Amino acid sequence: MKELKKMDEKVQLYFEEYGKGTPVVFVHGFPLDHTIWYPLLPFLQGKARLILPDLRGHGKSPATKGGYDMGALADDIKDMLDGLNIRQAVLVGHSMGGYVSLAFARCYPERLLGLALVASHAAADTPERRQGRLQTAGEVERRGVKSLARTMPEKLTAHPELIEPLRRLILQANPAGVAGALRGMADREDMTRRLSEINVPAVIIAGAQDSLIPLEKSKEMERLLPRGWLVEVPGAGHLPMMEAPEMVAEALQRLFEKI
Ligand code: MLT
Repeated sequence: MKELKKMDEKVQLYFEEYGKGTPVVFVHGFPLDHTIWYPLLPFLQGKARLILPDLRGHGKSPATKGGYDMGALADDIKDMLDGLNIRQAVLVGHSMGGYVSLAFARCYPERLLGLALVASHAAADTPERRQGRLQTAGEVERRGVKSLARTMPEKLTAHPELIEPLRRLILQANPAGVAGALRGMADREDMTRRLSEINVPAVIIAGAQDSLIPLEKSKEMERLLPRGWLVEVPGAGHLPMMEAPEMVAEALQRLFEKI
């Protein structure tokens, strides 16, 4: 990997694969796993080769100690693609998965066919947000993920039927993985200036009611990505792939058609 920090310890990511065709890697957000993408499968199966990994320390992938640099998480994806003999792929990144996808775009531009940023953005943390993350990382290491599971689901979605399944998912999260991701996100660099270098078809999918990512950030990315366009999803919050899967699948299909 070029320039960005490396993690010494390699891990093999758990992943699931569905269908044939152009490889598309779906990178989940924090502190979730590959299952968030399942609602898209009925719409996208048969349209591309869908690859759903769990990031290091999440879902069924092993955790390592220390902070998870976004570039190093991108390396894990690159290693997974190497293991599958896949030279180029489309990356679909949700929130933190978007930060990982942007790091991948920076480190391996020649491997990227197209990009979807779902409820994500390119900016770094503000100093306050960074401090908050580091504090939460320490708390999770000391006391586990219960408090995160209590407070986070309501911030992710306004759809009441999704709250309990999300809570159960977060309760299963590995504290070392959660702390590693929080530390990695806290230290991530601002990618805004680098968006102009990402010269592949790129769709930004934004929930109109996302309380975590202001729509203005998505509009800014649309302006800065040379081949970017924005799809705003009405009635969706931070998890449009679960809240409005048909519309998200449509937006992704349009991206696949442009590859
Ligand atoms: C996520 O959904 O991955 C997180 O909300 C991202 C973040 O905290 O910045």
